[in-house]
Amino acid sequence: MSKFILEAIDLDYSYSDGTNALRKVNLSIKKGEKLAILGSNGAGKSTLFMHFNGIYRPDSGYIKYQGEGISYKNKALIELRKKVGIVFQDPDSQLFSASVWQDISFGPLNLGLSEEDVIKRVKQALVDTETTDLQDKPTHMLSYGQKKRVSIAGILAMEPEVIVFDEPTAGLDPRHASEFMMLLDKLSHEGKTMIVSTHDVDLAYSWADQIAIMYNGQIVGHGNPCELFSQPELIKGADLTLPWLIEMHCELVNKGWLPSSAPLPKTKQDLLLNIPTQSNQLWRIAR
Ligand SMILES: Nc1ncnc2c1ncn2[C@@H]1O[C@H](COP(=O)(O)OP(=O)(O)OP(=O)(O)O)[C@@H](O)[C@H]1O
Ligand SMILES: [Mg+2]
Repeated sequence: MSKFILEAIDLDYSYSDGTNALRKVNLSIKKGEKLAILGSNGAGKSTLFMHFNGIYRPDSGYIKYQGEGISYKNKALIELRKKVGIVFQDPDSQLFSASVWQDISFGPLNLGLSEEDVIKRVKQALVDTETTDLQDKPTHMLSYGQKKRVSIAGILAMEPEVIVFDEPTAGLDPRHASEFMMLLDKLSHEGKTMIVSTHDVDLAYSWADQIAIMYNGQIVGHGNPCELFSQPELIKGADLTLPWLIEMHCELVNKGWLPSSAPLPKTKQDLLLNIPTQSNQLWRIAR
């Protein structure tokens, strides 16, 4: 059995107007991994995501799910989409039923589950995305952030193995964005594999196990967050910035307030703990 749950191998894809959106993209994702795909506008993130469950078919290269190249036959695609769920960047592309409840129940109903199981899953998805009070509302009357949360609920209710979120926090207010990050942690503890695209370097740095950086249709960097963000030229070259924690760490090192050997902080607490207290400094000088 492959150690990777999902793989993109030498993917090339051009749109009908000739835009070459993916160029020899290679990416391997382990089961249970939290992968962030970082990239500026037009880098190719959404186009790559559309390949993960066969919505787009590559011009060349292929996608493997659990070690096997995916088939584009209707039946196989239906099966694949039970395993790999995508929350689209634009919630209007995802919501089409009259009410929130109907929309979220659509997927589970199509899985052929009992009515009791469908109700259980929809209720849980409503709770997880804090949309219970919206359940009877027509989807077209929701605000953008509410639509976003309902579209996330619709995929959660399908309980896929791999969940692909395209810009999930864009348009969410700070509280709902942070609740969403907690939901991702909960899903991760349940063993789900999660792939999140974002421009938010702080979010990617603090959340992800692995980060892939896309630029101009290519993966230009892939590794653990500390490894990648220790390469400022790579980050700048991809039109991204460093996470504020790393910017602050570098400033403190430059000012001599932190030894250059201090580990990169992952949280605000780490950063503060790294700063030697006055007594620490005196102790260092005395030595
Ligand atoms: N339907 C389309 N027809 C033609 N070109 C397209 C189409 N959709 C996307 N593109 C082009 O493909 C490239 C990659 O776009 P994509 O939407 O994948 O980028 P992205 O990384 O998701 O960007 P963003 O951060 O803005 O969401 C861009 O150059 C874009 O203009
Ligand atoms: Mg996109």
